[in-house]
Amino acid sequence: MPRLIVTTRAGETSEIDVGDGLTVMEAIRDNGFDELLALCGGCCSCATCHVHVDPDFLGRLPAMSMDEDDLLESSDHRAANSRLSCQLPFTGDLDGLRVTIAPED
Ligand code: FES
Repeated sequence: MPRLIVTTRAGETSEIDVGDGLTVMEAIRDNGFDELLALCGGCCSCATCHVHVDPDFLGRLPAMSMDEDDLLESSDHRAANSRLSCQLPFTGDLDGLRVTIAPED
């Protein structure tokens, strides 16, 4: 199973195995990381699933939609490697992806 490596706001890093068909947000949420609120459930309208992605993986991610871009723009913690994790299907070629949960806005 592909692995996702998650760092929390406190700086603790864990590795999780991700089943087929999940987004990065669902994988994080379903593994008990309560600080990733994902309030809208993944419909790209809340920005509470904001993560910072390992720059090495940015080129393998799907392009950002205008809605995602607009929502990220509302965050004080937007960085060049910011993404909304609900917009990232976790496919096999992302094995070993590292993400850090962004600070709360
Ligand atoms: S879960 Fe709301 S935008 Fe991602």
